[in-house]
Amino acid sequence: MQVANRLEKLSGGIFTQIDNLAKEMVANGVKVINLSIGSPDLPPSEDFRRKLAEYVLDPDNYGYALTDGLLEFRQAVTKWYYDRDQITLDPYSEVLPLMGSQDGLSHIYWAFLNKDDIAFVPDPGYPIYTAGVLFTEAIPYPMALNIDNNFLPDFSAIPADVAKKAKIMFLNYPSNPLAATATYDFFRAAIEFAVKYEIIICHDFAYSELAYDGYKPLSFLSVPGAKEIGVEFHSLSKTYNLAGCRLGFVVGNKDIITALRKIKSNIDFGSFKAILKAGTDVLTGSQEYVKTTAQTYQKRRNIIVDGFNELGWQIPKPKASMFIWAPIPEGFNSSLEFTKQLAEKTGVIVVPGIAFGKEGEGYVRIGLVQNEQLLAEAVQRIKNNFINI
Ligand SMILES: Cc1ncc(COP(=O)(O)O)c(C=O)c1O
Repeated sequence: MQVANRLEKLSGGIFTQIDNLAKEMVANGVKVINLSIGSPDLPPSEDFRRKLAEYVLDPDNYGYALTDGLLEFRQAVTKWYYDRDQITLDPYSEVLPLMGSQDGLSHIYWAFLNKDDIAFVPDPGYPIYTAGVLFTEAIPYPMALNIDNNFLPDFSAIPADVAKKAKIMFLNYPSNPLAATATYDFFRAAIEFAVKYEIIICHDFAYSELAYDGYKPLSFLSVPGAKEIGVEFHSLSKTYNLAGCRLGFVVGNKDIITALRKIKSNIDFGSFKAILKAGTDVLTGSQEYVKTTAQTYQKRRNIIVDGFNELGWQIPKPKASMFIWAPIPEGFNSSLEFTKQLAEKTGVIVVPGIAFGKEGEGYVRIGLVQNEQLLAEAVQRIKNNFINI
């Protein structure tokens, strides 16, 4: 059997290696503390689960919702956006429900990229930004994000002939894996660059609500000119701990939304109506649960960062996301070597930065996806057994 060439280009090998390592250790009886997972461990609110159960029992919710989903969900999105940032959106032309934001992130490229077009992707970045480009036979062009540029792409470093061939740029703040945040001036510069070269900007805002110490992540759409050239992707997975429910949405430029809708209407028939209805309730209801979730992550962040800093492993404190992007201590040849030794000596599993792109070398991603007790234990195990630091 001969698979298509594009399959050869897809990586993911390191994630598989780490996953296998964790499984092997568990099978060998090691009490693993797995901080490599990207899925929240917290439950959705009880209110959400009760409502979802109610909608699931209603036989009227079993027909296709189709790509546009339910108007009530799109209206809930417009209300949520208005309440958050006073951004006005048209629920008919500027909002599209997604079966999880990954659905949109992976399919948007189909609507805009021809063979050999260029798409700008963050490096390090969430893997689908690059994998999605490879599906279309266009060319991903990594934008290096590192400490020197504050983890924000330097547009002046992009050659004009490359920019002229580019159709799409992906941005993601607060970011996975960097936990970096964007500024108003940066978004302004991105819009200027996009207008100059006629590039679409796709901003992935999956971690919009997971922020600490009173910080409020900036919506790309709140910056003047953004809606003329871009869209913002949103996930209910992290904000409301609904990862397995598969519900997200994209908002912004109506021509971009129309193009994505056309692709998706050939691929899927929309989300389960019960999920769309429960999603409507969660978006329009009290947002106290979201605040509590963010506070939980903030406490977890403090345990890890303060704990490691006390051990002499200096890690900056992120303002948002559910990750910590930690520079590996001296004395290790690579992030993969560090990850393996850490796992072997402590049972703590993290993701080597190289899994997210070349620029990720020298770092590991630590997910705040275990409870406070386990995170404190992770710090203790590293203190007791990982004497290299
Ligand atoms: C940055 C980022 N965007 C999107 C997603 C996908 O989220 P969803 O569950 O909405 O597909 C993830 C999941 O980990 C993510 O980290």
